Amino acid sequence: MREIPDRFAGKRAIVTGASRGIGRAVAERMAAEGARVGLIARGRSDLEDVASVIRGRGGECLVLPADCAIETEVEAAIDTAAATWGGLDVVVSNAGIEPADLDARAHELAASAWELVIATNLSGQFFASKHGLRHLVAGDGGSLVCIGSHCGSLGICINETAYSASKGGVLGMMRVMAADYARSGIRVNMVIPGVIDTPMNGYLKADPELFRHVTEPILAGRLGTPDEVAAGVLWLASDDASYCIGTALVIDGGVAAV
Ligand SMILES: NC(=O)c1ccc[n+]([C@@H]2O[C@H](COP(=O)([O-])OP(=O)(O)OC[C@H]3O[C@@H](n4cnc5c(N)ncnc54)[C@H](O)[C@@H]3O)[C@@H](O)[C@H]2O)c1
Repeated sequence: MREIPDRFAGKRAIVTGASRGIGRAVAERMAAEGARVGLIARGRSDLEDVASVIRGRGGECLVLPADCAIETEVEAAIDTAAATWGGLDVVVSNAGIEPADLDARAHELAASAWELVIATNLSGQFFASKHGLRHLVAGDGGSLVCIGSHCGSLGICINETAYSASKGGVLGMMRVMAADYARSGIRVNMVIPGVIDTPMNGYLKADPELFRHVTEPILAGRLGTPDEVAAGVLWLASDDASYCIGTALVIDGGVAAV
């Protein structure tokens, strides 16, 4: 049996969007490697499910329901974890939405849809980063990992103006945070997932033609798993990646290679 490393023993972590998909995989894996994990998402009952899995394996976590688009809610959730554990070491800013039914080409995009996506994906990652960094600065430094997307750096997400803008914003924000905090002992990095098999991509599976179009460039010949993304997030967050600062780690089954 594969031995589980303990790279996060004694570490105190926050994961946003921890109720399902990539965030859930990150939270469960980090807890399995020894971290105490603050689980943030909107729905308490989904978070309780994740918490019961983590606790059932002997891990420690806090259920911290919060809407990442509302600064005061994110701030309160992060402060609760830091107060409970006496600080924070790791922040994973992951929560996001991709409402394909609302997003559109620019001239067809409703301002309300634009604002929803920017508020959740860009402001949400800003609020989690801001309040997480506050605790990392006050402590002994640490690590922040943001979650981006090819939609923010390549023009491959057709009809998704708001989502692409939000993820491009996260990339720019990640780079300046990496520069601003490196000398405070805080490493800021990002993972760029390809097409991953999570509930977010339910709309793709429901549309065979779109699914074929989106999956054709994947050299791996399949969708990625949340755990394959979590492996990269944990590596960047851990001391194994001690020389990575401002890195955007692509985990995409080869999409960007062609
Ligand atoms: N799945 C992919 O193919 C893919 C590709 C590239 C990037 N991403 C990014 O990875 C991240 C995770 O995506 P996923 O595929 O796991 O999606 P998902 O829909 O499976 O999970 C998203 C998580 O974010 C939470 N969330 C959404 N809005 C929130 C809000 N306002 N406040 C608090 N929590 C909120 C959800 O509750 C859930 O826990 C997102 O930032 C997404 O943009 C995903």
